[in-house]
Amino acid sequence: MTEYHYKNWRLERDDHDIIWLYIDKEGRATNVLSADVLEELYDILGVLQKERPQGLVILSAKKSGFIAGADIKEFTVLSSEKDAADLIGRGQAVFDRLAIMDMPTVAMIQGFCLGGGMELALACRYRVADEDVSTKLGLPEIKLGIHPGFGGSVRLPPLVGAPAAMDMMLSGRAVSARAAKKLGLVDYAVPERRLKDAARSLVLKSPAAKKATGWKAWTNHRLVRPLLARYLRKQVAKRARQDHYPAPTALIDLWQHHMSDPRRMMREEAASVARLAMTDTARSLVRVFFLQEQMKSQGRKDEIDVKHVHVIGGGVMGGDIAAWCAMRGLTVTIQDRSTDALARVVKRAASLFKKRLKQPRLVRAALDRLIPDIKGDGVPRADVIIEAIFEDVEAKQGLYKEIEPRMKKGALLATNTSSIPLEMLGKVLKRPKRLVGLHFFNPVAKMQLVEIVRTGKTDEVVVRQAAAFCRHIDRLPLPVMSAPGFLVNRVLMPYLLEAVALEEEGVPGAVIDKAALDFGMPMGPIELADTVGLDICLSVARILSQQLNVQVPQRLEQLVDAGRLGRKSGEGFYRYESGKKVFRAIDQGYVAPTDITDRMMMRFLNEAMACLREGIVDSGDLLDGGVIFGTGFAPFRGGPMHYIEKQGKENLRKKLDQLERDHGPRFRADVSWAEGDAE
Ligand code: NAI
Repeated sequence: MTEYHYKNWRLERDDHDIIWLYIDKEGRATNVLSADVLEELYDILGVLQKERPQGLVILSAKKSGFIAGADIKEFTVLSSEKDAADLIGRGQAVFDRLAIMDMPTVAMIQGFCLGGGMELALACRYRVADEDVSTKLGLPEIKLGIHPGFGGSVRLPPLVGAPAAMDMMLSGRAVSARAAKKLGLVDYAVPERRLKDAARSLVLKSPAAKKATGWKAWTNHRLVRPLLARYLRKQVAKRARQDHYPAPTALIDLWQHHMSDPRRMMREEAASVARLAMTDTARSLVRVFFLQEQMKSQGRKDEIDVKHVHVIGGGVMGGDIAAWCAMRGLTVTIQDRSTDALARVVKRAASLFKKRLKQPRLVRAALDRLIPDIKGDGVPRADVIIEAIFEDVEAKQGLYKEIEPRMKKGALLATNTSSIPLEMLGKVLKRPKRLVGLHFFNPVAKMQLVEIVRTGKTDEVVVRQAAAFCRHIDRLPLPVMSAPGFLVNRVLMPYLLEAVALEEEGVPGAVIDKAALDFGMPMGPIELADTVGLDICLSVARILSQQLNVQVPQRLEQLVDAGRLGRKSGEGFYRYESGKKVFRAIDQGYVAPTDITDRMMMRFLNEAMACLREGIVDSGDLLDGGVIFGTGFAPFRGGPMHYIEKQGKENLRKKLDQLERDHGPRFRADVSWAEGDAE
């Protein structure tokens, strides 16, 4: 067996004269396709083309997976469209060389195979994937404001047909190995022990390469494309506005106009990605990606050894937190006083597991890990205890007094409280420094953010461990100070209440919501209030109003008094039938006030400035990350602090001053607007 050595690649030649080419990006835990990795691959392919082995299998030498994508850092330093086009052109040249190799080529995929990694696999003649749940294949470029650029948009539609290909690229969703097999994206999905055999046999037998046939092939036909493209444009327009997110439309255009000519399409793909990479949207989304990485780095998994979690309170939150932890592989005991509550937890968990894990054996295993525990037997065994009982100081304190002496030494004690100061809860503890907030958001399975709440007393190690725990369960930790509303509810509430005030003044809910959607919020504030529940909004608003500059609009109190609690009661601001909002047309002659968006967004931004000044979070970057993942604040705007910087502090401050003159002191600019920079 011959061996060659490169910086990022390792070659082995086996007895069948097959080259096994391992990617092993130097100095990184995860493989990414940086410029040097691609250059080496180009050279290796040149050598192999001359040596003519029996075949080539590309695989990863790292445990973390195949290839996570292109090196996004390289995108951040691009200063012109031309630089971007050059970078993309070089990547395309490497994969073109791979695609025309005069021998069978196989990508052997385990773990992540994303973005550029998927495009490399697409340039191979065959693909085999490990059927383990950790295998994920996808083209998530759209989430960064671009679309595939290393030939992915050219090679995927002919392989799996346009509907599946466009769905993958437009949503950025990754699929499992089994789903990939069904789509025709991989030739085989097999257990790990059979992967190498499958790859070898493809090289030795060299069957015809897969491609879409029948109706799937027709979907790429010149005459069909305009129809399908029209449908796709309508679909993407429903999800986001083109001026906010131009990449989906650019991808549809590319496919519609150039699919018949792959050479030309390759050039157009590069030009389109180069254009998109220079937009503010792409830059902001890349920023969001790095903010996410920064949040992840708040806790390293090895900072806590966690196997067993004990959750107390099996209501809306506790039940879902317990189910989520069990789904992520931890043993969970869930305690509640009521057996009915526990039965409901298991039922909800079963439907979550079915939806997410799909395979019956995995669903069963997750259900086995979720153990109802009415007596609280899990307390002495748990590494992390999460309390999520009623929002009541005495009930929580009573519980802590009872469990503290029974807790394992070094175990974390966390509360999910949204409004009770941790200082108050910690009073009854012998060791208050071990108490930390783990503030999850509803619904737990959808909301990635968890605020890690600390007081002046909380041990820093405990804060890091709590953040590390979030990484074990794949949530994004954001350390925040214990202060009313923490970060997310605090910035959200003035914005929601301003929306309610507008509604009270007679502006139709639909007009208010549209203004927020046009700004780029994922849901309008009126619908959001209805979805959260007006009773919950009212209770948070009351708590915050005591300590912050917010007034609770009477309208909110009236609706709650009338039993109109929002979606859950069938009526709030809107009416709901079978959970769906009943659409009410806006009067044709209605003219909305011109400052609706400013009124809502300026209160949001003003509160964000105050939070940063008060040190609720450690930096403007963390604030942006937290607000984007906790409230959905228009990701393409890069977060409130980034937005303020872009718009100019001075300009926005003038807006606030004007709003204060027009509508009163709730718009008074926080003192930090007058200080140096937003950061
Ligand atoms: P919930 O009312 O749905 O559930 C509370 C559960 O705790 C009930 O099943 C009850 O039987 C149980 N319980 C009460 N005292 C207990 C005790 N001593 N021992 C065992 N079980 C006990 O409440 P929800 O909405 O789940 O809220 C729980 C906590 O999470 C609260 O602190 C709340 O502030 C917080 N939170 C709520 C959010 C929401 O959207 N509902 C969002 C984020 C935090």
